[in-house]
Amino acid sequence: MSHSALATIILSAGKGSRMKTDLPKVLHQVAQRPMVMHLMDATATLNPEKMVAIVGHKAQEVSNCIKAEYPTCLFAEQKEQLGTGHAALMAEEALKNFTGDVLILNGDVPLITADLLQKIYTEHKTQNNSLTLTSAIAEDPTGLGRIIRDAEGNITKNVEQKDCSAEQALVKEANVGIYIVSSDYLFDLIKQTGNNNAAGEYYITDIIGLAIEKGLKVGSYTVDDPKPYLGVNTPLQLAENERIYQMRKREMMLLSGVRMKAPESVYFAYDTKVGAGTYLGANIHFNAGVSIGENAYIEGDSYFTDSNIANQAMVKAFSHVEGAKIATGATVGPFARVRPGSDFAENTKVGSFVETKKATLAQGASVAHLSYLGDATIGAKTNIGGGTITCNYDGVNKHQTIIEDNVFIGSNNALVAPICIKEGATTAAGSALTEDVPAQSLAFGRARQTNKIQPAKTVKEA
Ligand code: UD1
Ligand code: CA
Repeated sequence: MSHSALATIILSAGKGSRMKTDLPKVLHQVAQRPMVMHLMDATATLNPEKMVAIVGHKAQEVSNCIKAEYPTCLFAEQKEQLGTGHAALMAEEALKNFTGDVLILNGDVPLITADLLQKIYTEHKTQNNSLTLTSAIAEDPTGLGRIIRDAEGNITKNVEQKDCSAEQALVKEANVGIYIVSSDYLFDLIKQTGNNNAAGEYYITDIIGLAIEKGLKVGSYTVDDPKPYLGVNTPLQLAENERIYQMRKREMMLLSGVRMKAPESVYFAYDTKVGAGTYLGANIHFNAGVSIGENAYIEGDSYFTDSNIANQAMVKAFSHVEGAKIATGATVGPFARVRPGSDFAENTKVGSFVETKKATLAQGASVAHLSYLGDATIGAKTNIGGGTITCNYDGVNKHQTIIEDNVFIGSNNALVAPICIKEGATTAAGSALTEDVPAQSLAFGRARQTNKIQPAKTVKEA
């Protein structure tokens, strides 16, 4: 088994006309992550010496996306999309000093896993192949290249769907689009391909037949289930890839000890983390950046984005949580709208129809009903009465509300910021407070009730 170095090439220059949108195809997302990034993640696990992405259609957009997370990735531009072979050839300059194996992938096959790549790579090395391709026995291989074998079962070439004879079209073994080729031959082989075919393109797949003609050792790795590897050419296939991704992720979560009422109705992002023993209700949607600890309880019909929810926290139904930190033992919802910058400490309570934004609640603080807390700092064990609003916006600027520990805010208060309610203070229900309240004092910000004697009512007789 050889131990040569590895380089990777991801073909991501195509426009993806069959997607019928302006967005470059490889930037369409599966589980909230651009397809090409799934492939970057999977290839990176092989520790390649060099990674090259071929960009073309909206090159800047695609390379910016990759660069943001893989700053050492090299880029080669394919100015005109003349086919997958031509695309791979663009990597020649970037790999001119590289010797070893080159892994080439299509950028539109986001369900390829690190595990699969490892298996193909191992096969390539143990067989001492010069070229290893990946195939799948597909029930319906329409649109895919066919792997043609001779009577002994040896690979002879790949023929693209458009170029298939009637007989070749019946072949069920399809090309998945993952190749490992020794750098000794790769670019020479590509240069020998022509574009005399139905698409008028330079096909990378033609190097298979050429390598065999040259007498190089060509092998294949065949996957059991072809469905995940057929690639995304249309919105229908994108939806199908999403479905498969979600199925895999749900299964992984369940096996790791997450409990789910209706797994088929929970939608994860690629990076969602949920700890063992946590319960997830039905219809939960995770956007990117969410991590939930162990033994938390998350009721259904809720949405989560970019948030950290600790062990044993509870989020009740119909809540929207974004950019938040929710600590152990905190309770949120039902019907809570938790916006970015919300930070709830241990054993806090944010109840029904409460909206928070840039609001910090210290341990044991409670805002149980129908309130808005924006740009606010709430002290430990402070209780905010129902219907309280922090008036944080004067039409031009935002201002802070600070409420210290052990404060009791009566119901239906309007706290006009900037304002500070000091430790242990109490405010009367229905107050509109515009000035700071000293510690331990009782603030009234409303007219006192007066009861007047009214003239006796005369009752008309019928
Ligand atoms: C390709 C294979 C086919 C295989 C299938 C698997 C060829 C000729 N055919 O077909 O055998 O069964 O994948 O999914 O390779 N690209 C470029 N520049 C180009 C053309 C394409 O960078 O000039 C990129 C695309 O962005 C895409 C990838 O290469 O990520 C594959 O191109 P696509 O047109 O989707 O190839 P398929 O027709 O699916
Ligand atoms: Ca494709």
